[in-house]
Amino acid sequence: MNPSLIIANWKSNKTLSEVEDWLEKFSPNYNSINKTIIICPSFTLLSEVKSYLENKKLKIELGGQNISQFENGEYTGEVNAAQIKDFANYVLVGHSERRKNFEETNQILDQKINLVKKYGLIPIFCIQGKDTYIPKGVGIVAYEPIFAIGTGNSDTPKNANEVGLAIKRKGYEKFLYGGSINSQNVASFTSMPSIDGVLVGRASLDPVEFGKIIKLA
Ligand code: PGA
Repeated sequence: MNPSLIIANWKSNKTLSEVEDWLEKFSPNYNSINKTIIICPSFTLLSEVKSYLENKKLKIELGGQNISQFENGEYTGEVNAAQIKDFANYVLVGHSERRKNFEETNQILDQKINLVKKYGLIPIFCIQGKDTYIPKGVGIVAYEPIFAIGTGNSDTPKNANEVGLAIKRKGYEKFLYGGSINSQNVASFTSMPSIDGVLVGRASLDPVEFGKIIKLA
């Protein structure tokens, strides 16, 4: 069986001092037997988190939460693929919060995935349902129904598994579930045959809770 993939999506949260505190509290709880852990902090925090993980020799990967659809150049405020590659191996693309608040279209998501691949990053592509468009080049798909994000009302493991089966039938390598995952419900999702891991938002902000999720996943 493939190791579970557990991803923390911190969204637009945490200052530098809050992250230092998180890392100090998290590392004693950290127990990664056969699991791949990926933390996705804000871009401003990538450098700090990377140094900390290296110093402590923690086997945790880093991911960007977003990526510019352009290469380097005159795009004020954007962070491009080559810049992300300095710190991270993964990048989240297609999150519903970006589709909604930043009007990311399928065409923009295609451009982003092209650059992710060109620069050797691994995309984690978010879908909101089994029929969401998925650009070419994606291997890891994360199903995050909008009603479940940040609400405390997750989808049912059975339904998530059915979406997973449909996605796997299309040939995608890995399928994740995200939306109100916590230490109480994580095992009910990761025990489903089509689910290879979880994408965790709110519950990953608490280092002790995230440690428990990793253990129980
Ligand atoms: P949530 O967010 O765990 O807070 O529901 C998940 C996500 O949006 O990635």
